Amino acid sequence: MQLALDHPHLISLAAGFTDDESLPVEETRELLNEILGSPRSRRAALQYGTTAGDPQLRRLTADRLKKLDSTGGTGLSASADDFSQHARLVRNARRPLSVAAAENYSSERVLITSGSQQLLYMVTECLCDPGDIVLVEDPTYFVYLGIVQSHGFYGRGIRLAADGIDLSHLEQTLETLRRRGELKRVKMLYLVSYSQNPTGITTSFVKKVAALAMLRRFERAAGHPIYLLEDAAYRELRFASDDVPSALAAEGADERVIYTGTYSKPFATGVRVGFGILPEPLLTIVLRVKANHDFGTSNLLQQLLCRALASCRYERHLPKLQRRYARKAATMTRAMREHFPADVRWQEPDGGLYVWARCPKPVRSGVNSRLFRSALKHDVLYVPGELCYADDPTRRKPSDEMRISFGSATEAEIRTGIARLGATLRELL
Ligand SMILES: Cc1ncc(COP(=O)(O)O)c(C=O)c1O
Repeated sequence: MQLALDHPHLISLAAGFTDDESLPVEETRELLNEILGSPRSRRAALQYGTTAGDPQLRRLTADRLKKLDSTGGTGLSASADDFSQHARLVRNARRPLSVAAAENYSSERVLITSGSQQLLYMVTECLCDPGDIVLVEDPTYFVYLGIVQSHGFYGRGIRLAADGIDLSHLEQTLETLRRRGELKRVKMLYLVSYSQNPTGITTSFVKKVAALAMLRRFERAAGHPIYLLEDAAYRELRFASDDVPSALAAEGADERVIYTGTYSKPFATGVRVGFGILPEPLLTIVLRVKANHDFGTSNLLQQLLCRALASCRYERHLPKLQRRYARKAATMTRAMREHFPADVRWQEPDGGLYVWARCPKPVRSGVNSRLFRSALKHDVLYVPGELCYADDPTRRKPSDEMRISFGSATEAEIRTGIARLGATLRELL
């Protein structure tokens, strides 16, 4: 962000910002007018709320998650006939949840937070002690690595396959830690399970279930629960593939799955309301910490989202957003095919905000690399892939990848930015 300010002509393909044009300005104006125009809601909305969050928003959130998990979500929303398609999917639930799983979605278990980032922070802080190990995808969301590092915890990277973490690597890592007597330092596995930041990979439901079972298997040796922290920040930004059920739909999820989601990315990042479903007794502990942080997320913003959800404006907004990201992603990969050297590798994104690209040898992409410096000279910025890897002593950090975002740049900026990056790559080769 600072670099972008220092270089006014810079095209930033780095930030995880969302698309400006599709922000729901009119909808938000209408919603605020309704809230402040109604004698029933206007004063309540301008008053403090409760630590756990507005009861109606908690209920709407729980119901929505349950529907997503029992129906396969919004499916191919990019081509969907707006809300009617979603309503039909919800009515014709294809995957009725078991009674036990249905209870996992009780609104009593939902916590509303100031962005999902706050919840990721609180959960990690509550569960881990200095010196503890958090298992993370390799690579992972680099801001989360900041939370881990700043508390004196250690990230241990689990390799990624096309459908999520490599289960045999997870098992091998847990087994090695067990043999060394270090399993007691492991409290959780953190997965960004939908259109992952940074790679775009989505974890299959089968893998979530298998990972959960594996963590449970190692609990006896650990001597405490090992949680699965599922970060679903990009779940509703999928545009070219069906939704996948969350780990909440798995057997035993009520005891071991912590699910975090957000209304930031799919509605408005400026509104910044997140949510989570947590097992007891963790929920009570996190609530106490949230009481110390802010004793409740902004009530006005929660009321705004309540109305957006209850009036279906939220639901109607999603397909527009998904169509827009589908187009921007296509613009980006088309430009990459046109301007990048042929041996740069990437996978077409089917959701989220990012393309993850691997440079050919001998190009390095790190903060101190020639590529990064020349890209800056050409007024274009990307996220060096090395920043997304935990400081894990068991492997060398790859430094030949870049995260390129199609979120906030306009289509014209995407085309120009990729052309500049392509020219930089060609110069170096
Ligand atoms: C993977 C992931 N999780 C969580 C967040 C936090 O989002 P928010 O705090 O706006 O809900 C982000 C934001 O970029 C993200 O990329």
